[in-house]
Amino acid sequence: MAGDYRKVAEFATLQEFQQYLSEEKINIGFAEGTSAMKQSITLYGKTLDNRWAILPMEGWDCDASGVPAEYTLRRWRNFAASGASLIAGVEAAAVMHEGRSNPRQLLVSEKSLPVLADSVKEMRKIRRNLYGSDAVIGLQLTHSGRYAHPNEDAKLESRTAYSHPLLDKKFNNSAANVVTDGEIAGIVENFVNAAKMAQAAGYDFVDIKQAHGYLGHEFLSAVDRPGAYGGSFENRTRFFREIVEGIKRDCPGLGLGCRLSIFDILPFIKGEDKVGKPMAEPGNEYAKYAFGAAPDGMNMDEDLTEVIKFTRLLKQYDFELIVGTIGSPYYNVHMQRPAWYAVADGYLMPENPLYNVSRHIAAAKRLKELCPEIKLTASGLTALQEYLPAAAEYIVENNYADFAGIGRMVLSYPQMPADALAGKALDRRRICRTFGECTNGPRHGMISGCFPLDDFYKKMPQAAKLRELKKNQ
Ligand SMILES: Cc1cc2nc3c(=O)[nH]c(=O)nc-3n(C[C@H](O)[C@H](O)[C@H](O)COP(=O)(O)O)c2cc1C
Repeated sequence: MAGDYRKVAEFATLQEFQQYLSEEKINIGFAEGTSAMKQSITLYGKTLDNRWAILPMEGWDCDASGVPAEYTLRRWRNFAASGASLIAGVEAAAVMHEGRSNPRQLLVSEKSLPVLADSVKEMRKIRRNLYGSDAVIGLQLTHSGRYAHPNEDAKLESRTAYSHPLLDKKFNNSAANVVTDGEIAGIVENFVNAAKMAQAAGYDFVDIKQAHGYLGHEFLSAVDRPGAYGGSFENRTRFFREIVEGIKRDCPGLGLGCRLSIFDILPFIKGEDKVGKPMAEPGNEYAKYAFGAAPDGMNMDEDLTEVIKFTRLLKQYDFELIVGTIGSPYYNVHMQRPAWYAVADGYLMPENPLYNVSRHIAAAKRLKELCPEIKLTASGLTALQEYLPAAAEYIVENNYADFAGIGRMVLSYPQMPADALAGKALDRRRICRTFGECTNGPRHGMISGCFPLDDFYKKMPQAAKLRELKKNQ
């Protein structure tokens, strides 16, 4: 059947799995042992004792004013208990109400500040008690831009960087959604204020998100936006530079990091056969809007020309860390979070999900080759399931990245980094199988969580509702 690929759990051994990957011409390396992942590394002045990272994972579960609530705090405690030494952004925190992706997104504000401060202390304490060492903890700052739903789950209130002909069509946007030059200073100020609060709360760094099609990322491809914030590379990075310069002015000593979509491709939609297809032919006039893409708009630019220019800019501003990713969950989800199961607003897989894992790894490798001076976290690895730790070992051993990050896997199996480091066999009942329910919950206006595998969420009425909804998907 179209969109159907062999599942990882079908393979009895790594050798069988590798044989399959080689038949499918998918290039993913694996290494034995844990010596690379156990290497220490210095980041933001701290010496970390391993190379596991927790990717930012939001839960759509704060209170209406954006203050972390019970489930949010439980997730963050799990991050701290995971064994990973880098908590790479905790989760996307909106810098202003209008930029919230959903009405329960974390909002950095005077009201959330005391809870954030307590939670940073608590995360450090958990890690110290369990592992005897500290973690580096960041907060991801963002404006959701085209994907903002600040007031109602079902009411998209997009603020875009420019009119993208295909995305405007997909998300019903028009020129009226474009952020004006006059509005930008206000948004920049909110980023800087949020960074001040993050510093006061005790985070080691803030991540200025330039990924997944959110506002900051969209500005990077505003090639035909008129005025000071579009057109040339200098203009397209002006929004970002203004944020960073404000943070450097007002938050001396605060570490800087960046979640970066290393490359993007054309937007996809569900075809008549339910399989994802690009909204336009490869190599068309829309490819220029995919930051980091080759001229076909479907693959990475091997030289990563503009991405490298951007990375050098990060270095100039003393950024120490890039948390890599590719694409967007809103318009090419099969690439951004490789999976076997379609998510509610997605489509059946147009390519082998493991091929898309290999694209994440190739993107990290290429960026690190071209810019070895910046520390990098690889992502998109959860789909490797049983074989994730061996791939992480290979990635770090071969210097494709400095850290291996986990996203969906930390929801189902928070102790995976600790188990892997201890050389224990993984608990197969907890391995994420990419069912997609952590995405489907929010797409249906509910909280996120691992409803199929985490006992805490399994019992919730939302778990039954999601199973019901999936039957009709
Ligand atoms: C439920 C859910 C929440 C996420 N939240 C964030 C977020 O807050 N910020 C972010 O940059 N990425 C977010 N992501 C993307 C992940 O960080 C990660 O890039 C992605 O899941 C691929 O990594 P994985 O294969 O390990 O899951 C989220 C993904 C999921 C499924």
